[in-house]
Amino acid sequence: MSSTKISYKVGFIGAGNMAKAIGNGILVSETIKAEDIIISAPSDRNLAFWKEKGVRTTHDNAEVITFADIVFIAVKPQYFAGMIEGLKTTKLSVSKPMCFVSIMVGRTVKSVKEVLETVKGISGPFEVIKVMPNTPSMVGTGCSVMVSDKSSVFSSVVRQIMELTGVCEEIPESLMNACGALSGSGPAYLYMVIEALADGGVKLGIPRDLSYRLAAQTMSGAGKMVMESGKHPGVLKDEVCSPGGSTITGVHELEKSGLRAAFMNAITAAAERSEQLGK
Ligand SMILES: NC(=O)c1ccc[n+]([C@@H]2O[C@H](COP(=O)([O-])OP(=O)(O)OC[C@H]3O[C@@H](n4cnc5c(N)ncnc54)[C@H](OP(=O)(O)O)[C@@H]3O)[C@@H](O)[C@H]2O)c1
Repeated sequence: MSSTKISYKVGFIGAGNMAKAIGNGILVSETIKAEDIIISAPSDRNLAFWKEKGVRTTHDNAEVITFADIVFIAVKPQYFAGMIEGLKTTKLSVSKPMCFVSIMVGRTVKSVKEVLETVKGISGPFEVIKVMPNTPSMVGTGCSVMVSDKSSVFSSVVRQIMELTGVCEEIPESLMNACGALSGSGPAYLYMVIEALADGGVKLGIPRDLSYRLAAQTMSGAGKMVMESGKHPGVLKDEVCSPGGSTITGVHELEKSGLRAAFMNAITAAAERSEQLGK
């Protein structure tokens, strides 16, 4: 596979699941050469994966910033302060234009920018773009949302990178926590739905592994129908429900159990929690 080449060097601070998902998308697409990518983490735990692919690895976050033009901050939000304090104790000195892409849940563009501005070794113009990916990015079917300034120089290339892992939608920052609760957290809720559907099948005698396969493929197919048919999900639901049939009988049971309210409550609660975590 190959798409438009990217001439920037890309770095990742943090080498865990999300860095792997985004980095793998880049490597598979061959839009950036492995030698133009660098990644750091405090331990070797996650670095072997990258070394095998010919990516430069380091324990020194300053080396990532020195080498790369676009740096993904892929540490957990609670480790961001420690990461910044670490940078202040290095001999970091960069004055080139740069872009930091924060994927940390809950942190606003402004707060990330303000914290980075306290690092004296970064003296060139830099911008901060916020991206909220989700875990299906690991298999190329991710759903990311992105916030950038209108004046951003790097937004189109960052979007191109994120589209290597699935789709990427640009949103106003005011919707970030809501979108994070929907597409960032959403996979967890939908895995629960797959588990529940499969449990229903097992209860009726379907073998467990077959039940999971049927449930997962049904979920994936339903999503594809919504995306590709252009029909409203309610219309698609109606098309499965014949009058007096079995599906509408099941739909009635779901409505009695408050399925829609349960999901709406979950998304609202997750967004509120992101808001708290960002403070
Ligand atoms: N997982 C999701 O569904 C999801 C979705 C959207 C956004 N996010 C965001 O993505 C970010 C990464 O999440 P993840 O799931 O990839 O986490 P993860 O798998 O735990 O990886 C975190 C990485 O950060 C490294 N790290 C810790 N402290 C560091 C420091 N001071 N300097 C450099 N690296 C450091 C860890 O090093 P070691 O390898 O040595 O442990 C590890 O490689 C988080 O901010 C999260 O909020 C996650």
